[in-house]
Amino acid sequence: MRSSANPGNERFYERLTLNERIQHMVLMASFFLLVLTGLPLRFPEAPGSALIVELLGGFTIRGALHRLGAVMLIGLTIYHFLYVALSRRGRSELWQLAPRPKDLFDAIQDVMFYIGLEDRKPRFDRYSYIEKFEYLAVVWGSLVMITTGFLLWFEDQALELIPKWVLDVASIIHSWEAILAFLAIIIWHFYHVHLNPEVFPMSRVWLTGQVSEHDLKANHPMEYERLMGQAATGGEAPQNQRQDQRKERKRPATAERSRSK
Ligand code: HEM
Repeated sequence: MRSSANPGNERFYERLTLNERIQHMVLMASFFLLVLTGLPLRFPEAPGSALIVELLGGFTIRGALHRLGAVMLIGLTIYHFLYVALSRRGRSELWQLAPRPKDLFDAIQDVMFYIGLEDRKPRFDRYSYIEKFEYLAVVWGSLVMITTGFLLWFEDQALELIPKWVLDVASIIHSWEAILAFLAIIIWHFYHVHLNPEVFPMSRVWLTGQVSEHDLKANHPMEYERLMGQAATGGEAPQNQRQDQRKERKRPATAERSRSK
């Protein structure tokens, strides 16, 4: 989700709850740890690999830290599944993250726009096709890494149940999926949340959870119009806006928040 500096008074909407921001932070920490402790094993000859292992405290500690990162990722994955299954907010977010035919048309229109064959960018709802794809990639990637990582971790027990070639395939998948995930984060995710000129040097949504009205309107016009429509008809506002309104009721008369990002 994009956000940018907006001078003057502006209304902000909650995009990520505190719970979701903490989940994102745990994901970041565990991913960073797993990459840092996994890639030196994959590329032992690469410049910096030996230094990283030395700084981590040696080869054995590197392995223990990789398993610590794995436990963090497994814990987070279990928690996240419970969150989207059992909480109202989680179910609602999952529903809005579900791929729809519109996402395919949006992706085509976006490419056409960037190559100059279309005048307008697609109008996104709460999640764009890019955000949906990133979410699915993280969920899918985590499940693949956890399954293959477990087989590598408990190799002897695994070999009692499965043939050796399955373990070899698991090892290759673990290794290549690690590279894919690392590149996807460095190139794709970092572009969208850091290097994109509209958010440079960084989108702060992962820290504040807030998105400005300007950015919501620009990047998620369908969601913005729905929120405005509900506000105008006095209908029930969605959860993210209701939380915002609750906070505003607790504030003094000048309910409009002004904040410079
Ligand atoms: C995004 C998550 C992860 C990344 C980026 C990652 C990365 C890597 C890499 C690059 C290797 C070296 C592979 C090779 O030598 O070709 C590796 C090995 C290994 N990984 Fe992972 N991994 C991840 C998640 C996990 C998880 C969840 C587990 C356990 C459930 C796990 C357990 C292992 C084990 C046991 C090895 C064997 C080498 C060792 O003792 O460290 N990994 N990982």
